[in-house]
Amino acid sequence: MAPLSPLQARPSSDKDLARVESALRAAAVTGDDFLTEVTSHLIPAGGKRLRPAFVIASALALDPGGAAPDAVTDDMICGGVAVELVHLGSLYHDDVMDDAETRRGIEAVNHRWGNLKAILAGDFLLAKASELAASLGTEVAALLAATIGRLCEGQVRELQLIYDLTRTEDQYLLAIGGKTAELYATSCRIGGLVAGADGETLDRLNSFGLAYGMAFQIVDDVLDFVASDEELGKPSGNDLREGVYTLPVIRMLADGQSAHDGLGGLLGEPLDDDRRDRARAIVVDGPEIASSVTTAQHYVTQALDALAPFDATPGMVGLRAAASNLLSALPPEAAGAAAAGATGAV
Ligand code: IPE
Ligand code: IPE
Ligand code: MG
Ligand code: MG
Repeated sequence: MAPLSPLQARPSSDKDLARVESALRAAAVTGDDFLTEVTSHLIPAGGKRLRPAFVIASALALDPGGAAPDAVTDDMICGGVAVELVHLGSLYHDDVMDDAETRRGIEAVNHRWGNLKAILAGDFLLAKASELAASLGTEVAALLAATIGRLCEGQVRELQLIYDLTRTEDQYLLAIGGKTAELYATSCRIGGLVAGADGETLDRLNSFGLAYGMAFQIVDDVLDFVASDEELGKPSGNDLREGVYTLPVIRMLADGQSAHDGLGGLLGEPLDDDRRDRARAIVVDGPEIASSVTTAQHYVTQALDALAPFDATPGMVGLRAAASNLLSALPPEAAGAAAAGATGAV
């Protein structure tokens, strides 16, 4: 069910990820014991560590010897920890915005300690990410700082249109590009930068990460409809409840058929559980889940196209496999829609 890591095929990927893990834990330690408890809360709870894996796989992408146990340098680990800290900090802030109760299968930080402490702890994690990025040079530091800015822009674009029944696909795509895809693009570019890749390679790695990230967020948004709380480790159906109308909803509302009028009548304001479940059932029964998965498939194809010129080094094989397998994170009935619709319109 979980998306495939781009390091999956590396024989010593457990060791690479153990290095990421210990550096991540060290980075979350602060000068204050209470703050350290808050900043460290979600790290042992899990998380897929996909973004550091993309840094490392991208760094290895041009190395024919990239399967060797010692191919992963300290700079690659440091870049991986920096992007994971940005992701983690953004989750702290996102859970405040979404009023989430759980994250990674445990109590969300905001729910346990309140919004103010969640915001401050998230700020610390973002600050620490910037400090680590600076140790990799000014280009990496500037890139990560700009990416944090893009993330805020994406989140604000989403926030400005909550409960808005007129939200368009273009507005949705712009928001998810900023809040999610840009960090994947930056993860891949940082991998290329620490490995000394040339400009053309950096741009291709960036395009790959951007397209993968678009598909990743569409899949996350579809999972919010078709997966359970237990499967996700976070509340499912939360987007509808919080008024975040994602691709399947936007498409259903836009198609103007009377069969979908029931959905418009339920949405547009905060929902209790019963109305949320009814709205969710309408969306799950419609064809828009399948068409959204087809759009995710389109981004997967775009991601693979960006890597087309490169030889099949171990890192490159990992990146391609991660993209090709992304849709298998969906339950078979939703993933099958992509296979059926792969040749259809996007
Ligand atoms: C969750 O990201 C936030 C989104 C961009 C959808 P992940 O699904 O990568 O979260 P973790 O790190 O594995 O918990
Ligand atoms: C991703 O969007 C948020 C960030 C980029 C931090 P979501 O709001 O969909 O993420 P989840 O579903 O809460 O993990
Ligand atoms: Mg959220
Ligand atoms: Mg989500």
